[in-house]
Amino acid sequence: MAQAKVKLTINGQEVEAKSGDMILWAALDAGIFIPNLCAIRDKDHPQTGCRLCLVEIEGYDKLITACSEPVIKGMVVKTNTERVDRIRHTAFELLMSNHNIDCKNCVQNGSCALQETASKLKYKLKPERLPSIVRSLPIDDSHPLFTYDPNKCVLCGKCVWACEQSGAGELQFAFRGIDTVISTLGGVPLVQSGCKGCADCVTVCPVGALVLR
Ligand code: FES
Repeated sequence: MAQAKVKLTINGQEVEAKSGDMILWAALDAGIFIPNLCAIRDKDHPQTGCRLCLVEIEGYDKLITACSEPVIKGMVVKTNTERVDRIRHTAFELLMSNHNIDCKNCVQNGSCALQETASKLKYKLKPERLPSIVRSLPIDDSHPLFTYDPNKCVLCGKCVWACEQSGAGELQFAFRGIDTVISTLGGVPLVQSGCKGCADCVTVCPVGALVLR
């Protein structure tokens, strides 16, 4: 049976979406850009970690993450208000304040989700209001296929999900707060983990943290 459709309005444009779809996918499918780093379409429970997809919805007091809010018939969504931009910009600066900004030497240069976000929203990559607190964590280059640089990781969790989906389930979040990293089970180097070498984690990484050698 075909899935029911609903109509909503995003930035004044009427959009048709599948009932139960999240606002983020409805917008992107309609060609309306909403920045996002941690959203995965096939994942049942959105992580809502990056906070870049915040939108305003008529009748709601707070800003809402578009990746976790299902569309409703007649819903009125705005992605480009002053309030959205102010809070989204702060979320972006927070991310960039501990990101090793080294685009010229980064394999992902030109196809990085951070560059795309900055370019589309006219943000600077280097935060202007927050101090830079880049960590200097060791790069894991133990694996013959790919490397992991935690200093470029945005903790979107896509690699953890991809590793789970592949059946290996070797990647996880470790530690808390500012110390959070993506780690193998037991913190062993990638080559000593149960990695099967599918490199799905590299495919989904939106930045230059996991790259092929
Ligand atoms: S994409 Fe929605 S919180 Fe990251």
